[in-house]
Amino acid sequence: MKAIEYKEMGSAEVLELVDKPNPEPDANQVLIQAKAAGVNPVDWKLRSGSIPFSFLFRLKLPFVPGAEVAGVVEAVGKNISQFKVGDEVVGFHSALEGGAYAEKVLMKESQCQLKPAGIGFKEGAGAPLAALTAYQLFKGLPIEGKEVLVIGGSGGVGHFGVQIARTMGARVTAVASSSNQSFLTELGAEHVIAYDSSDYPDSLGNYDIVLDAVARHSASEMARHINRRGAYLNTLPNPSHFAEAVIRGIHYRGAMVESKQEDMQTLMGWLTTGQVKTFIDSSFSLSQAAEAHRHSEQGHARGKIVITMD
Ligand SMILES: NC(=O)c1ccc[n+]([C@@H]2O[C@H](COP(=O)([O-])OP(=O)(O)OC[C@H]3O[C@@H](n4cnc5c(N)ncnc54)[C@H](OP(=O)(O)O)[C@@H]3O)[C@@H](O)[C@H]2O)c1
Repeated sequence: MKAIEYKEMGSAEVLELVDKPNPEPDANQVLIQAKAAGVNPVDWKLRSGSIPFSFLFRLKLPFVPGAEVAGVVEAVGKNISQFKVGDEVVGFHSALEGGAYAEKVLMKESQCQLKPAGIGFKEGAGAPLAALTAYQLFKGLPIEGKEVLVIGGSGGVGHFGVQIARTMGARVTAVASSSNQSFLTELGAEHVIAYDSSDYPDSLGNYDIVLDAVARHSASEMARHINRRGAYLNTLPNPSHFAEAVIRGIHYRGAMVESKQEDMQTLMGWLTTGQVKTFIDSSFSLSQAAEAHRHSEQGHARGKIVITMD
């Protein structure tokens, strides 16, 4: 099979298209003939070694990046009961396991869900990591009827954050550049704010929950915009945010997205009804993975970047 791997960390040039032996599922795994894989910032952060203390991850080189995939089940292990050959599925596991930038991908049964029939493979592959990041940050908070601000509302996490907050009953204000204001409205934001306008961030109002999807701020910067007992949610966990939030009487959560079966089921339900949609920024072929990374590294994706295997 064809796959993308890197033998050393570095810039996007280290990504190589290679031939690898076809993987075989063990008793508890599903082998997916991939049609598309999602591209996430964590993929290029692992590749470049730019995550603080990333040596602790002990990434085994050569490494095939990619955490999420959509495709067709090609084979199943003997203990698999939920899926059969030919099923169209979406799979998601930790970015540290990798393996999704490939024509054939192994996932555990619990990490797979049937792909909603009404969405394409690209939309399936691009959903889990970014959407579950937003959902897991919101989950358990009183959100119905609340004022929610999503900063970076047009990107991978943010565009799901806007839609999920709306679906959970919030009134949403979203922030992106002036070029993305109509996209934010299309996603369901009631109010939109441009971070490149001269009065930002003074133009922000007061909110019960702030999802800082691109981690551009801190709890202390945002505290004056967060109502008492409100929450500041950030995608790059930082112990100092926690301390700042406690001092200011607000709740803090930093994302650590996980592949949880019940959350995947909730997401697939929303994708099935169309309450939440994956917007595709761009798609690249497997051999263009380096271009896909460079594009993601610019930090201005509108929705999700995906790789297709055809
Ligand atoms: N800890 C976890 O579990 C976890 C999980 C997922 C993601 N993350 C992290 O979360 C971050 C976002 O991920 P992502 O997939 O959403 O990235 P992304 O798709 O690359 O985000 C791009 C978005 O950021 C917006 N943006 C750029 N500069 C901005 C600014 N100054 N203020 C507000 N918005 C700005 C862009 O809007 P414009 O194009 O309009 O400028 C664009 O919509 C990354 O750092 C990622 O590593 C962490």
